[in-house]
Amino acid sequence: MLLIKDILQQQPIGTTLSLRGWVRTFRSNRFIALSDGSTIKTLQAVVDFENFDEAELKRITTGAAISVTGDLVKSQGRGQEVELLVRSFEVLGDSNPEEYPLQPKKHSLEFLRDIAHLRMRTNTFGAVMRLRHSLAFAVHQYFHKQNFFWLHTPIITGSDAEGAGEMFNVSILDKKNPPLTEDGAIDYKQDFFEKETNLTVSGQLEAELGATALSKVYTFGPTFRAENSNTSRHLAEFWMIEPEVAFADLNDNMDLAEDFLKYVIRFALENCQDDLEFLEKRLLDEEKSKPQNERSAMPLREKLQFVIDNNFRRVSYTEAIDILRNSKPNKKKKFKYLIEEWGADLQSEHEKFLVQHFNAPVILFDYPAKIKAFYMRLNDDEKTVRAMDILFPGIGEIVGGSQREERYDVLKGKMNDFGIDEEELSWYLDTRKFGTCVHSGFGLGFERLVLFVSGMTNIRDVIPFPRTPGNAEF
Ligand code: 4AD
Ligand code: MG
Repeated sequence: MLLIKDILQQQPIGTTLSLRGWVRTFRSNRFIALSDGSTIKTLQAVVDFENFDEAELKRITTGAAISVTGDLVKSQGRGQEVELLVRSFEVLGDSNPEEYPLQPKKHSLEFLRDIAHLRMRTNTFGAVMRLRHSLAFAVHQYFHKQNFFWLHTPIITGSDAEGAGEMFNVSILDKKNPPLTEDGAIDYKQDFFEKETNLTVSGQLEAELGATALSKVYTFGPTFRAENSNTSRHLAEFWMIEPEVAFADLNDNMDLAEDFLKYVIRFALENCQDDLEFLEKRLLDEEKSKPQNERSAMPLREKLQFVIDNNFRRVSYTEAIDILRNSKPNKKKKFKYLIEEWGADLQSEHEKFLVQHFNAPVILFDYPAKIKAFYMRLNDDEKTVRAMDILFPGIGEIVGGSQREERYDVLKGKMNDFGIDEEELSWYLDTRKFGTCVHSGFGLGFERLVLFVSGMTNIRDVIPFPRTPGNAEF
């Protein structure tokens, strides 16, 4: 059985076709707009109501699942090239119009979030989910072409890869009455894994083990952070892509990240034209009610093309701090967090300013060691590390990465400084003991990428079932 996408592409006029889908609208008791989700477009099925049972016709309501058989003809009307003249139809699943929450009208994104179990049936969420799929496919295609191996790193781990302590505990101990050690702490020796475990915050440490054996690996999987950030950029459960490359330094890492991002964005532009066209219009519509200075500088597809066509600007943290310190919003105290001295952590308001300042995606590098993770390679100045963050327009940080500290003694010292248990990460230190080498990698937040490419404005709207503080519905 053909999907609507194929029918509209191949247009097999004169043939009799059967297809199934869900009714979007049923107009004048004659025109069914049928969707099967294979494309944003619907197929118009025309019923000669005079020839059909009235009671059956009444069952063709918005949301109902039906199968139709008919002849494909050139459309008489405007708005579609072909239509199906219905010979017979069957209602497979009724949808009571009094109860069905999705009416053929505009619903707010907030309302749709509450009915996320049905929202994929709307144009917007159908488009986002198809786009999401294409981007995921492009990620795998890119790395496969570049001779990377997809490494399946564990979801349950015993380590805190980022050392930030934002972890969800995994335990089967009795919560009301857990076994205790002699000094009163929970005795995880009696837990399932006989140690304390959590959901992974990053697959990087395991990816480093892969890279120091297979040269080029990447992970692509669910990632969990128990940070209480109720923003439009944070999820408690998100998908992260983490390439890791042996014998690559920070410059190689930046080149890889830029090439990779451009590839997947180009893939979406070439393969998701209908959905991007729709999403572009949606964004224009949404922004009509906003003041001029809050609207996007360019239409969606132009913005994507702009990112592909232009070099990312590479700027050191030190240079960025100088720019920020002397910026108007800093001098006029418009920033919520004023930049006073070198060493300050950058907030999203600063990242946004920098992207606007350079009018391009920005790669910031060589951050102060103190504000970055323990595994990043220390520069000769002993103050900064070989870190990089990529900042995107409207998104802020989309990628975080670094060249890794490959020197055994330096890494051990750093772990001590950061209060990280050497025992716990002895396997990680082993890579530096046996055949250590320069290596680098980064992490791309997949939903932030989908956010950027789709032009949606809240990260909760680019993942089917978002998990955020206070919300784990569906
Ligand atoms: O900057 P982060 O924390 O870096 C790491 O986890 C490194 N281990 C990556 C590496 O070098 N292999 O996270 C990387 C990216 C961020 O830039 C952001 O895009 C995304 O992951 N991210 C989130 N996305 C959605 N919700 C959250 N709570 C996120 N936290 C990070
Ligand atoms: Mg980061």
